[in-house]
Amino acid sequence: MALHRRVQEHESDAELEINPVYVQEVSCEIPRFRISQRGVLPRTALQVVRDELILDGNARLNLATFVTTWMEPEAELLMAECSSKNMIDKDEYPQTAELEKRCVNILSALWHAPSGSDAPGCSTTGSSEACMLGGMALLWRWRARQGADGRAEHPAGRPNLVMGTNVQVCWEKFCRYWGVEPRYVPMERGRLHLRGPQAAGQCDENTIGVVAIMGSTMDGSYEPVLEISHALDELQAARGLDVPIHVDGASGGFVAPFLQPDLVWDFRVPRVASINTSGHKYGLVYPGVGWIVWRDSAALPDDLVFNVNYLGGQMPTFSLNFSRPGAQVAAQYYNFLRLGFEGYRAVHQACQDIAMHLSSSIAKLGPFELLTDGSELPVFAFKLHDDVTGYSVFDLSERLRMRGWQVPAYTFPAALEDTAVLRIVIRNGFSMDLANLLLDDLRLHLRVLEHHPQAQLPPEFQAKRVSFSH
Ligand SMILES: Cc1ncc(COP(=O)(O)O)c(C=O)c1O
Repeated sequence: MALHRRVQEHESDAELEINPVYVQEVSCEIPRFRISQRGVLPRTALQVVRDELILDGNARLNLATFVTTWMEPEAELLMAECSSKNMIDKDEYPQTAELEKRCVNILSALWHAPSGSDAPGCSTTGSSEACMLGGMALLWRWRARQGADGRAEHPAGRPNLVMGTNVQVCWEKFCRYWGVEPRYVPMERGRLHLRGPQAAGQCDENTIGVVAIMGSTMDGSYEPVLEISHALDELQAARGLDVPIHVDGASGGFVAPFLQPDLVWDFRVPRVASINTSGHKYGLVYPGVGWIVWRDSAALPDDLVFNVNYLGGQMPTFSLNFSRPGAQVAAQYYNFLRLGFEGYRAVHQACQDIAMHLSSSIAKLGPFELLTDGSELPVFAFKLHDDVTGYSVFDLSERLRMRGWQVPAYTFPAALEDTAVLRIVIRNGFSMDLANLLLDDLRLHLRVLEHHPQAQLPPEFQAKRVSFSH
């Protein structure tokens, strides 16, 4: 949600014009920034709002977002039927609550929760909320440890969370909102994400946990959860610090079980306390659903869970919001049922084939260096070779937009701020044909830029042009 500020009434464009062809109503008023005195007919309202929204981008050409932009008509129908259901009202909608429970079960099995564990979990509005909940559980457990050490009255210091600078902004938010010190491990040439020794090197007795990302928003690469865990085991052996891991599997939580089933990153790693994912990314549901699962009840402190009875029945909840749409949860269950393991694998495999075809073709174009190739998430990042001058990745991103392609260009975080990249996210619905059309356009725009180089912009301006979406 963007933060909006009040627009004052005297602005010249305070009212919307409406096209008389659409409208049978005479002299209806459509103010932009305040509520009208009288309403309008449904068709008029529909037409006016639709007209404005045609200016939004074309989702099929959006290679910036990880979020689902296509679902099949049956899923859309189901979502429309469920759009009035409130997820929190588990007494009124017990079957929606049942579907949520089944989805948590399916995910905990896909992520190898230990047998016999109750693996508590829930749906959320997305990974950001799920990460907040995961972070809070780590913070509460650290506080409890302080108490157990008899240090609650005299806390040893501020709690901290260890992660790479490549984390998604939700972790920065978590730290700021809950007064936790973010301990960032900078990126460096040849190491674009967190590794074991660097993670362990930042930990001390006030570390609430380490965040490992599957995979990085910056370039789609997976952080080596097992290696990080081994480094933390060594730390524990040397200094007695027992630091849990939260895996941010916003994208990879729904990819790795299907495409890299032998990669050990989930609850098979004993130090992994919790895992989140976005149902609305590679879970293939329209925006509005995330998931979090804890290894067992011990990983989720009791006093974070609220029991409310005023909707009828006893309902344990752990969430930041109260009311939330139920349609996405129904759609998530629909996808599990509709696709099954093989279906999810096939969809993600198709995305990966296209990502790897595109990345290898882009590498052959000449001016680019691949930083990742789409073999982990179907996502890859590439930069211009250091000796390419006269235009930047920002120029290329802008030119691609002329044809509707959204390919974000941005600079990496600390300490690689001087590295500017383009990133391509391949999602369900982006075909091999579209990939080849994109390649044709890339070739064309490269020729244009090579023959008509852009004026070199000062670095401060380039930083302002960062266009980054997820
Ligand atoms: C690694 C990672 N974590 C968290 C998030 C936030 O996810 P959501 O948009 O579902 O809140 C993202 C979004 O791109 C992400 O890539």
